[in-house]
Amino acid sequence: MNPATHTESRIPNLSEAKLRDHRVLCRVDFNVPLDGKIVADDTRIRAALPTIRDILASSPRVLILLSHLGRPKGKRRPEFSLAPITPVLSALLDMDVRFVADCVGTDAEAAIAAAPSGAVLLLENTRFHAGETSNDADFAASLARLGDVFVNDAFGTGHRAHASNVGLAQLLPAFAGHLLTREVQYLDGALQNPVRPFVAILGGAKVSDKIAVLERLLDKADRVLIGGGMANTLLAAQGQELGASLVEETALPLARDLLNRAADRLVLPQDAALAPPAGDDTPSLHITIGEEVPPGWRIMDIGPATVAAFSAEIQHAQTIIWNGPLGVTERAEFAVGSQSIARALALQTERGATTIVGGGDSAAAIQAAGFADRITHLSTGGGASLALLAGERLPALTALAGAAQT
Ligand code: 3PG
Repeated sequence: MNPATHTESRIPNLSEAKLRDHRVLCRVDFNVPLDGKIVADDTRIRAALPTIRDILASSPRVLILLSHLGRPKGKRRPEFSLAPITPVLSALLDMDVRFVADCVGTDAEAAIAAAPSGAVLLLENTRFHAGETSNDADFAASLARLGDVFVNDAFGTGHRAHASNVGLAQLLPAFAGHLLTREVQYLDGALQNPVRPFVAILGGAKVSDKIAVLERLLDKADRVLIGGGMANTLLAAQGQELGASLVEETALPLARDLLNRAADRLVLPQDAALAPPAGDDTPSLHITIGEEVPPGWRIMDIGPATVAAFSAEIQHAQTIIWNGPLGVTERAEFAVGSQSIARALALQTERGATTIVGGGDSAAAIQAAGFADRITHLSTGGGASLALLAGERLPALTALAGAAQT
């Protein structure tokens, strides 16, 4: 794999690291959904396997995995323990993984010293210590004492400046893992030099949450297709009557400005599926945009004419990036639009296009529709994907690009 660049800086990759007989500290993002003590979705664990396997193949003295889970705010809270990850990772690697009940201090140091050669240790949640999120120098030094080389494969936390990603990269020879490298290559690289036509699809609730991404995509893409709640605000800015639909009133001036500047590139919904007012059990309605949304009714999804129009744009594209659901996908009847677009992306991937889905709810929609394996790159990041798509410099990547590699 070619080295990734992040806003022109080269990020050193794992393949350049000397790991033999070294204690390798690897930051992964095992911030996975738990159902009690059961891992409800192991996507992020599987995504780290290429890096973990490659490190193990380099005969390290020991591999030490670091991660956070949830936001325990510096407190040791059992519901945020990484212990439930251990059996899942053991099964995936087909080897014993030892869990260590703290990520710093004498117990962690002793467990690492006593570990047999080539062992894998998973340390407890880094966020059980307040020094993690404040990137405290002493806490970072305590982590650095555990290893000789640092590998960061936690793309999902790339937008955070924490001790276990930024602090460590400043203290040890540091390299990007394969997942992190791949994420940067697709989410940043595709935007810098896309094969055209380049179509972007943007959804989610609010225009204001995604304004930086929208501006960058409008600058780079040939077409930007908009769905979800954010499309309502643009439709309202065009004077459309939307009943009780989610409209971000404060973003209306911004929406008008976008429509004035980029009407030729923005593609808005042509029809919509509606939900009735609370307590009314009338089945959902379909309207063509231009018709009035009845009082109390809300737009919940794009309709079939919009799916057809978006699919036609997708069929002409060579690069497609999608971020954010196009409807209220938590309700099955309003996940239809997002699932139809997921299918269109899968088909276009088979025709040779590069398709990239940036994290969070849109990735979940692709998975629910069963198309996860038929997309070129499904990002594991939520906030980190958005930040990279917006062209921001991610602190963890900047730290790696600036790290000493010897
Ligand atoms: C994520 O789930 O997006 C990452 O693991 C980062 O988690 P955070 O938003 O709690 O920092």
